[in-house]
Amino acid sequence: MKPSNHAQSPALQRPDHASAAASAGTPFDLGEGRAYENWRSEKLNFFSLSPEALAKTLMVPVADPASPRPDEKGAIFERCDAFNMAIYATSPDTEKQDVLALARHLGLQRFDTPLCTGEDGLTEITVADGGREEFYIPYTDKPLSWHTDGYYNKPDEQVRGFLLHCRRPAREGGLSELLDPDVVYIRLRDENPDFIRVLMEDDVLTIPANMENGVVVRDAATGPVFSVIAGKLHMRYTDRKRHIEWKDDATVLAARQKLTAVLNDAEECIVRFRLEPGQGVVCNNVLHRRTGFSNDPDAGSNSGENSGGGRLLYRARFLDRVGAHQ
Ligand SMILES: [Fe+2]
Repeated sequence: MKPSNHAQSPALQRPDHASAAASAGTPFDLGEGRAYENWRSEKLNFFSLSPEALAKTLMVPVADPASPRPDEKGAIFERCDAFNMAIYATSPDTEKQDVLALARHLGLQRFDTPLCTGEDGLTEITVADGGREEFYIPYTDKPLSWHTDGYYNKPDEQVRGFLLHCRRPAREGGLSELLDPDVVYIRLRDENPDFIRVLMEDDVLTIPANMENGVVVRDAATGPVFSVIAGKLHMRYTDRKRHIEWKDDATVLAARQKLTAVLNDAEECIVRFRLEPGQGVVCNNVLHRRTGFSNDPDAGSNSGENSGGGRLLYRARFLDRVGAHQ
């Protein structure tokens, strides 16, 4: 049986975030200059660290992922509050059930279960040697461009958090880069508040249905790039150019161009690191990408945590933010 997916709850069938009304009283209300300025300066202050200091600050050692201590959990929550992400470091031989236990302890409970997800809610991100996975870029050794997870989900099934755990690194490459969507929001709003206005429109970005052998395996999804859910900013984005439909509008085009410029700005507050065995990212679905990589030529079959194969990461996606169920 698949883990429970709370999106089936009737209470979640009513999207409460896809309109400007959800922004009222938050810093994300375009009419709220002062609240925005306060939030903005606090956020940019957090990110004023050098890239090295930032990566170091985000790192939290966790002695036992199956039973993290209150101070370890507190350190992760603190970082997720400030940066929307934390990196943890635990034993290299941490197994699936411990990764799932850590997620549960961190308040991540309502699973999103896209294609290729295992029965336990974890997905093995590794180079596929057959099956439907080999048709999807995450299961190859190719680079993955900027995106937030689940950008093809419906508005009421948004991925609010995910955990990515390294079981085995690649021989070479496979670097991760992460960027807090709050920072992107700030760059766009500072440039032109109309960029935010159009990117919050409910029909700005459509991901067409996913077809496999003529059969729809995922419906089309239309929704905003930025939305506000329970007072927090949420971003839905993919940098891909194919199988994606943007609203045909001059301001949307200009906003997209600015967004692309931010994502490619070498001076931006981008967190860069290469996950080592036992390390993982836990976050409020921040923007991320990975570089291409190469495994040992004799790595053989990649699947299975005890095989001697190539790069293997475990990923779990949630409809919750970190710390949601405490
Ligand atoms: Fe991803």
